Amino acid sequence: MQTQRTQVVIVGGGVAGLMLSQLLHVEGIDCIILERQTRAYTEARIRAGVLEYGTVDLLRRVGVNGRMDRQGLRHEGFLLMDDGEAFRIDLHSLAGQDVMVYGQTEITIDLMDACVERGVPIVFEAADVELHDIDGAPWVSYRHDGSDHRIDCDFIAGCDGFHGVSRRTMPDAAAHCIEKVYPFGWLGILADVPPMDHELIYSNHERGFALASQRSATRSRYYIQCESSEKIEDWSDDRIWDELATRLGDDGRITRGPSLEKSIAPLRSFVCEKMQHGRLFLAGDAAHIVPPTGAKGLNLAASDVAYLADGLIGYYKRGDEAGLEGYTARALSRIWKAERFSWSMTQLTHRFPGMSVFDRKMQKADLNYIRSSPAAQTAIAENYIGLPL
Ligand code: APR
Ligand code: PHB
Repeated sequence: MQTQRTQVVIVGGGVAGLMLSQLLHVEGIDCIILERQTRAYTEARIRAGVLEYGTVDLLRRVGVNGRMDRQGLRHEGFLLMDDGEAFRIDLHSLAGQDVMVYGQTEITIDLMDACVERGVPIVFEAADVELHDIDGAPWVSYRHDGSDHRIDCDFIAGCDGFHGVSRRTMPDAAAHCIEKVYPFGWLGILADVPPMDHELIYSNHERGFALASQRSATRSRYYIQCESSEKIEDWSDDRIWDELATRLGDDGRITRGPSLEKSIAPLRSFVCEKMQHGRLFLAGDAAHIVPPTGAKGLNLAASDVAYLADGLIGYYKRGDEAGLEGYTARALSRIWKAERFSWSMTQLTHRFPGMSVFDRKMQKADLNYIRSSPAAQTAIAENYIGLPL
């Protein structure tokens, strides 16, 4: 058994774990990241793409903003479309901020590069990670390169996503979890073709929701609502492009091309209201999932670790435990507001199986109200750009 000691063990090298490592590192707090996958695997995952300005500020705070500032696209608004009629939510004039379109994949690469440059240790392919004595003097065990390892630490940050080990280790966590599963999924396609518009388009169509998103001037990301049980093998690229053309009311602006990636993901809302037990803290997808319609998953992971870093910095720099004690309440308040926004955007833009005429009339009335009311548009805009940290 090889043994080591650090101040904070971070389980999971996704965006939450990586961002936390940098927030701690710039304050001189030591940590080690344990990641189950290889670096190549974690860097190749296609994930979200819209950053709130608060997330952009956080990346600037840790000095991991060079490539984002050069390559990210500032978006001042987006389009909401219903039955082919579009109107614009002007984020900039309604809420005074923009969002940044820059892929989570790119952020992951930038943060991993920063870890390597700054000497923050990441153990890739850390197998069988287990958390011990989280009520007292915590330690973490894992297997790597055929040998057993042990790291003793002051705190464990569970940043290991929805399927990770951290939430499962927390006694009684399941009793504090609240979940809603939506009766559909999203089929996503990534292709090296120019986006159909310079802004994102969220479309409610009688055949189901569609979203035109992007990663750059030459790379597009599109989604369509589908049944969760559908198989990606049944969706040829041509079938996806035809469906997108229908649902987005294509007037020749969609450029088609071979898919670089395509996949189907279910939609769910999930919150584990127990985010701390003893010296273990959960952050990011380990504690909550939002349906992607509000573009909040990545941004919530960022705000969680900002709060957790505040708590840890208070503990190490000032001997003040108030930030750690208040972590769950502070994080949950923001999480539930993001859950609400993501749920409401999903309600507004998707066709639910078995939707009654009345339900559809309510949806249309909601959209017509938003279209005519600057107050309603402002409420959407201030949530989309991100509520204050
Ligand atoms: N041991 C070590 N690492 C693990 C384990 C484990 N037992 N289980 C999972 N992991 C790793 C995963 O391989 C992954 O790299 O934890 C990481 C979790 O990263 P994410 O799933 O990206 O979660 P998070 O960092 O919280 O980021 C949330 O990702 O899914 C999107 O919409 C979501 O944008 C949001 C963001
Ligand atoms: C994306 O580009 O992946 C994306 C954008 C906006 C969303 C969801 C996903 O609301």
